[in-house]
Amino acid sequence: MVPVKKPHEIEKMRVACKKAALVLEKMCALVEPGVNTYDLDQAARGFMKELDCESACLNYPNSKGKSRYPSYTCISVNEEVVHGIGRINRILKKGDNITLDVVIKSDGFLGDNARTLLLEPVTSDMTFLVKTTQEALFIGIEHAKAGNRVGDISNAVQRFVESRKLSVVREFVGHGVGRTMHEEPQVPNYGRKGKGELLKPGMTIAIEPMVNMGSHEIEISADGWTAVTRDRLPAAHFEHTVLITENGPEILTLLGHKV
Ligand code: MF3
Ligand code: CO
Repeated sequence: MVPVKKPHEIEKMRVACKKAALVLEKMCALVEPGVNTYDLDQAARGFMKELDCESACLNYPNSKGKSRYPSYTCISVNEEVVHGIGRINRILKKGDNITLDVVIKSDGFLGDNARTLLLEPVTSDMTFLVKTTQEALFIGIEHAKAGNRVGDISNAVQRFVESRKLSVVREFVGHGVGRTMHEEPQVPNYGRKGKGELLKPGMTIAIEPMVNMGSHEIEISADGWTAVTRDRLPAAHFEHTVLITENGPEILTLLGHKV
């Protein structure tokens, strides 16, 4: 069953998504050479407290149910694709590519928002990767219209990314989001037009292309969480929580101003 939210639930989603976007924005402002990813995660913990919300990642069980996610946010550097854990000895430096992924819970509802930042100077290949991934997100969002199917989003993202000779990750997908982090439907970044769940007004979904510079293959690190590219080439990831309305998609994790 794909949840369709009622107006009072949508209002709570709006608040939660704004908070997720604010935490992400405040974290982005701290990203600079010399900062370690543990401190960045701890700063996010403080921002969540200030905004009266909590991390939805902390203690999240992994797919095998064997371990629980140990940090407040996900911070993934270079070949790390998603679910990177803040570490005191992971010190950011010039030339790094950093993905920050924030999922918060506020008044029973979740907001999910991620982006990749670059610490200049970087190679033109890295800029191309990050720009393409961000564009892929917006192309996916354009297809998130009532009456379309999930496969229309998936196919648009995949075709765009592959036309640029980059690859989409298969193992992780976008998802419905609401009272829990991963609701129906799954929103893969690959697939066929016209297939999958019908999109209806009131659905809230996280669209999140994860794009690799090299092969799409990933593996999970020894920590049981961090996904890294098998070829150790960089990856990028952008994510917004989107509300399907009668009049097209509405991005709930956008702040009023350009970030
Ligand atoms: N934004 C990620 C997702 O959509 C966050 C998951 S982190 C976890 O899956 F630790 F909670 F798994
Ligand atoms: Co997500």
